[in-house]
Amino acid sequence: MSIKALRGMKDILPPLSRTYLRFIQEASKAAQNYGFEYIETPLLEETALFRRSVGESSDIVGKEMYQFIDKGGNDVVLRPEGTASVVRSFIEHKLDKKGGVHRFFYYGPMFRYERPQKGRFRQFHQFGVESFGEPSVYEDAAIILLAKEILDRFHIDYTLKINSLGCPQCLPPYRQTLVEFLQSHEDICEDCKRRRKLNPIRTLDCKNPHCQSIYQEAPKLLDHLCDACQREFGKLQELLHREGVDFTIDEHLVRGLDYYTRTAFEFVSTALGAQNAVAGGGRYDNLVELLGGKPTPAVGFAIGIERLLDLIDEEAAKREGFYMGVLDLQALDLAFDLASKKRKKSKVLLQYKPKSLKAHLKSADRHNARYAAIIGAEELQKGTIWLKDLEQKSERSIDISRFLELE
Ligand code: HAM
Repeated sequence: MSIKALRGMKDILPPLSRTYLRFIQEASKAAQNYGFEYIETPLLEETALFRRSVGESSDIVGKEMYQFIDKGGNDVVLRPEGTASVVRSFIEHKLDKKGGVHRFFYYGPMFRYERPQKGRFRQFHQFGVESFGEPSVYEDAAIILLAKEILDRFHIDYTLKINSLGCPQCLPPYRQTLVEFLQSHEDICEDCKRRRKLNPIRTLDCKNPHCQSIYQEAPKLLDHLCDACQREFGKLQELLHREGVDFTIDEHLVRGLDYYTRTAFEFVSTALGAQNAVAGGGRYDNLVELLGGKPTPAVGFAIGIERLLDLIDEEAAKREGFYMGVLDLQALDLAFDLASKKRKKSKVLLQYKPKSLKAHLKSADRHNARYAAIIGAEELQKGTIWLKDLEQKSERSIDISRFLELE
């Protein structure tokens, strides 16, 4: 019986893995331009971390965690998301006590035991950023601009949706009003009845069409924001307008994780089908304190890499590097030597098996090499290389020293 990857988990092979790497490089560069630094946290964390942060009412904690007891009897979880881990690390390393602003980015696998479908996996990858210590709404705007910058670098088509989820002043009274509304509708789905008890605002993004039609009439959080939240949400919109960022306000955007306050946003794409969010994030000013740290404002987002890769329309791969081949076995030692030297700067694919010139050129083309560099008995004797530029379609013989300079 052949062994296959687990359901909902997949390998990333070339050519997709090439785009994956390019995405990580570009996104890391963009995040660094905004002052973020790389952080790496373990894939396994204590279960309590996600129960307390992502929240008991969330689907993630309620039904999707890869949770088990390890050999030491510890209750552990394969991380379903990155924010909680970064917050845990931030507190553990006493950065909350140190004060100031700390910005981190990360990427890697996340695990959620969901029902697999297009764009939804059990192991998937996120690129995320988290900013700590900056209460200014300019940081929310900067974070959204960074996400946009990354998506724009890959020419992704999206709609940006934003909302405000209020704060500890205005959310509880609104929640009470919403619960009263929900209690007058016993025909909502069973999931919503569960959410009504645990976290009523999560009902608003229920996908059930009947619930959706009921919630059209529900009291709106945006009408219940306190003055400060209203002001901040207005300023965020003004900043996005200033920077030429198009967005829509979605009053039902509540996000699937419980830790958000004020700004919440998602980048969605119609090209993705049912799982249409390519990135999501927002402010979570209470989470550091909730996890035992000093109260610290924070804001961040994560991009779903698989969904993003689905949207990238890779232009035909650019020709790159050198293909080297020999016509006679006696030229292989020299070719091996030259390839090792050139690899300090350039990509070189060396074919060990002697072949005809025609066969080598075919191989070079198949590997998308920019140059084919061939050595036969004649070149060996003269100290030259036969070189074809597969982009310019030109060919010539050059000295070995010139060849080594070529990039
Ligand atoms: P999230 O919305 O749960 O937020 O996930 C962020 C992104 O990860 C989604 O927009 C989606 O593209 C991708 N994603 C989520 N689940 C799956 C899945 N099963 N298969 C494939 N892709 C998936 C968070 O995780 C927050 N930690 C984001 C954040 C950072 N908020 C503040 N800071």
